[in-house]
Amino acid sequence: MLLKTIILIFGLTACAAVPSSIVRPCDSIPCIARHLASQSACNPNVRGSVPSEYTIRNFRFDTPYFNATYIDNDLVIRNHDKCFVSEFYYNVATQKAVLSLDCPLLEFQSTRTVVQHYSLREDLTYNYSYHGTYPMVRLTSTMPLTQPFDMCRAFTFADVTALPRYHINVNNKRTANFLSRDETFLNIFERETFFWRGRQLARFFINSLICDFGCDF
Ligand SMILES: *[C@@H]1O[C@H](CO)[C@@H](O)[C@H](O)[C@H]1NC(C)=O
Ligand SMILES: *[C@@H]1O[C@H](CO)[C@@H](O)[C@H](O)[C@H]1NC(C)=O
Repeated sequence: MLLKTIILIFGLTACAAVPSSIVRPCDSIPCIARHLASQSACNPNVRGSVPSEYTIRNFRFDTPYFNATYIDNDLVIRNHDKCFVSEFYYNVATQKAVLSLDCPLLEFQSTRTVVQHYSLREDLTYNYSYHGTYPMVRLTSTMPLTQPFDMCRAFTFADVTALPRYHINVNNKRTANFLSRDETFLNIFERETFFWRGRQLARFFINSLICDFGCDF
């Protein structure tokens, strides 16, 4: 009786596991481009490259945990061209498509303006220069399978898998104090920062190299 039950359970698990709803149709960028283009309005005639270094005049983001707003002035991004597709699949059951990029050694360099917010008081503003190198950032964009696909409406989750190495030119003692606090704070800070950066990184790469959805960031 027990054996029968075990066989039955085993049989059920095996049956449930066999018909996978996950479809991985591609393992090359031209194939992904063809798939995206056939199910969306994106243009597969892309520029074909991402610069190894480029500058964004002004990138603004908020870090709610720290009650702060940051403005990266003349933000230089390097090694964006080293990202690669690490996952691409459709899930027929959930009607979602997933496209992930792994980005090793991304570098960000800028002169930052920090706007520190307070209750019942005006903001405090200060600047510092920094240069950060991130061992690995993983960008996962999820799109509903309902057609047409639209990368411009996809959410991109940026996973900062390891803390960055920082070189900071501190011209302000407050900044030095803030940045020397423990790694838990740095971890929260990076997650909040990349919550804003993920979209730009994913869209710029996908629109330049895979299929151009025509959206800015
Ligand atoms: C943010 O502001 C709140 C309210 O003033 C304060 O309690 C909190 O400690 C601040 N957060 C940080 C990280 O300083
Ligand atoms: C530093 O921040 C101030 C605002 O307090 C701004 O006016 C100034 O231009 C900034 N300096 C640099 C070098 O970005």
